[in-house]
Amino acid sequence: MTIQWFPGHMTKARRQIEEKLKLIDVVIELLDARIPLSSRNPMVDEILKGKPRLVLLNKNDLADPQVTAEWVKYFADQGLPALPIDAANGTHVKEILPRVKQLWAHKIETMLRKGINPRAIRALIVGIPNVGKSTLINQLAGKKIAATGDKPGVTKGQQWIKVGTEMDLLDTPGILWPKFEDQMVGMRLAATGAIKEELLHLDDVALFTIKYMVQHYGAGIQERFGVQELPDDMDNIQEMVKVMEAIGRKRGAIVSGGKVDLDKASLIIIRDLRAGKMGRISLERPF
Ligand code: G4P
Repeated sequence: MTIQWFPGHMTKARRQIEEKLKLIDVVIELLDARIPLSSRNPMVDEILKGKPRLVLLNKNDLADPQVTAEWVKYFADQGLPALPIDAANGTHVKEILPRVKQLWAHKIETMLRKGINPRAIRALIVGIPNVGKSTLINQLAGKKIAATGDKPGVTKGQQWIKVGTEMDLLDTPGILWPKFEDQMVGMRLAATGAIKEELLHLDDVALFTIKYMVQHYGAGIQERFGVQELPDDMDNIQEMVKVMEAIGRKRGAIVSGGKVDLDKASLIIIRDLRAGKMGRISLERPF
């Protein structure tokens, strides 16, 4: 099934973000550390128009730390500071404010030189649905969560969230979709749970996952599922299906007649991947 990516969705979100950008000092772009480019809105550079930006690689608890380090370098090479975090557990979340302040330091210095007391930095969090924006905002705001009220020119109801006294946060206005019409991007998004797996065929997503795992994380499959023999030929679908069947058999996904229930096996594979049960897995690399 081909997924459609409607530019109309983007036009609306783009307009909503552009409207807010006038009030914003720094943008915090939240990506999924396991699939940084696939979880990125493809028009984000154009929309943000050179605003100072901090990239956060979220869900790093589930990502391969070595690959994440490569991504940090990839973004640094593009002039974008990137920080791996785990918003759910709060890991490295405390480093966000100092990093945002660094991006705004020149303005703060100017204000101080002029004898003006610097106001709180205004940051906009952007990210595709499910990347962890709400989780991060709750972590950043902690128990002191308080709306600072509408700022002039902002639609009523768009609340600013206070992060201590030094930063005010705004969530993505509108929905910033990933570009999931590219089949590989769609597979990565479905495997990680960023889009509903029903949008694609479940067994296709599981097959994609298994193929990637065999190629890069063979030991993860062997340890988790006790599958000893892994195929050498990545393009041999039959061999990959055999791995899925072996997993299904191990986990009791059997239908009458002793055949493996591939739908059930697919679900097991995808759930285990998302829960990090096969180890820390990245499904995209910067090369
Ligand atoms: P959004 O606002 O960007 O749409 O995303 P949201 O915060 O709702 O997070 C989406 C899902 O991702 C949530 O899981 C959340 O717990 C999980 N999540 C967010 N940050 C992290 C992280 O750093 N690591 C991990 N492992 N998970 C993270 P959920 O299944 O929808 O809900 P629940 O598991 O919290 O019940």
